[in-house]
Amino acid sequence: MSASRYCYLTTPIYYVNDKPHIGHGYTSIATDVMARFKRLEGVKVKFLTGTDEHGQKIQQSAQKAGMTPKAFTDQVSQTFRDMSHKLNLSNDDFIRTTEDRHYKAVHHLWDDLMEKGYIYLDSYSGWYAIRDEAFYQETELVDGKAPTGAEVEWVSEPSYFFKLSSFQERLLEYYKNNPDFIMPASRKNEVVKFVEGGLKDLSVSRTSFSWGIPVTKDPSHVMYVWFDALTNYLSALGYPNNQENLQTLWPTCTHVVGKDILRFHTVYWPAFLMAADLPLPKRIVAHGWWTNEGQKISKSLGNTIDPLQLVQDYGLDTVRYFLLREMSFGQDCDFSKSALISRNNSDLANAYGNLVQRIFSFIYKNTDGAVPALKDLKAEDETLLKESADLLSLVQKHMDDFAFHKALETIWAVIYKANAYVDFQKPWSLKKEDPKRMEVALSVLVKVIYQITLLLQAFMPDSCSKILDTLGVSKDARTFETPSVSR
Ligand code: MSP
Repeated sequence: MSASRYCYLTTPIYYVNDKPHIGHGYTSIATDVMARFKRLEGVKVKFLTGTDEHGQKIQQSAQKAGMTPKAFTDQVSQTFRDMSHKLNLSNDDFIRTTEDRHYKAVHHLWDDLMEKGYIYLDSYSGWYAIRDEAFYQETELVDGKAPTGAEVEWVSEPSYFFKLSSFQERLLEYYKNNPDFIMPASRKNEVVKFVEGGLKDLSVSRTSFSWGIPVTKDPSHVMYVWFDALTNYLSALGYPNNQENLQTLWPTCTHVVGKDILRFHTVYWPAFLMAADLPLPKRIVAHGWWTNEGQKISKSLGNTIDPLQLVQDYGLDTVRYFLLREMSFGQDCDFSKSALISRNNSDLANAYGNLVQRIFSFIYKNTDGAVPALKDLKAEDETLLKESADLLSLVQKHMDDFAFHKALETIWAVIYKANAYVDFQKPWSLKKEDPKRMEVALSVLVKVIYQITLLLQAFMPDSCSKILDTLGVSKDARTFETPSVSR
């Protein structure tokens, strides 16, 4: 990310038809790590998450539960708010599409596009998948189903349309001139191919059900749930009135999404914004999908993974670390309990935990708990200190690319070296043979643990906070702006 002093980060807003699963947990944790990391860099961050509460899918789920959509969405939205707390997300805001501020923003955007002539009334006949809340062309269907496997139904009703077809060239031009707009590059190519294939006008209202935001001046229509949902990113900034937010935060916005909802974010959303003469977000980054022990995750297979159960079984920071270390951001990844346990044992317990544990207890037992000053350094001390100090810029580079796994891998390379340094220096032998040298080695290790732990705070906030407390690091010396982080 640029040196901008503002950064607006969003997760998708989650459908409230179901309880949170690992997909929600992963997107949220990844965005949280980025938000925390940026704050440590001194950037003013707004981190938004929330719930997507309208549409036919939610209306049907409420019916099944024997509840009104309002009562149903109140209940399920709360489970996502609870998830935010249980995953220790540092979101500054939680938006619901049933809130007033959101209605105001959506109506304003709709009316603006209507006035500018980008929305017109016609009728829609075609295929619709309620599970995906998406329209499909006949040619896209595979064995009578959506390409995602969702059931489709034939819809024929009056509908407002958005002139998406007018934006094909502008979108292609924009992707070309802004090569980092869609990440990773492989996903960008998919989007470009889709747009090059031709864009048809998009149906943006429905009349066959009522659970949605009514169209201004024509309430027999409710707005298409994606028109409604995408606008949440502006509603939370106080669009259209809060000019300050719109000018400082909006252009810095990164939307973090899963690969399945890329088309909505990189084609429809930018086209709506272009039509309204609004700037586009800075970047859309798409992550891959988790499978479970080699199998596609689906409700019908009964193999969904509950992130909160994982937290209960293995601990929050272990789960946060595992999800970000195991998945190469952008690619699919298999979840297995054995991989989680093995990373916990090898990376966390045996490498990082062991380093911290043995040094802290050695200091406690042998130096009255006081950390010796850094002086009389040998070449091997300087080498380790340099590698540790260099970490900040290396990790920042990986984080700019959303390469969480590489950021962690880079940090772990130094953790392994620090452990090797302990084994080589043998402070326990130095205690008798050369107590002065023992002090030097300990002071080097304390500095390295401090620098590593500062970098890991975004990933494992609770554990790192405890380690920094033990080191006696004051709260205001825990950002990357603290001079000793890279020296
Ligand atoms: N409501 C829409 C988003 C609107 S944003 C304006 C939506 N909601 S969702 O609840 O169905 O999905 C939320 C996220 O979960 C998506 O980013 C999706 O990619 C992600 N995942 C769902 N299953 C997943 C996996 N198995 N693995 C990783 N993420 C996956 O879509």
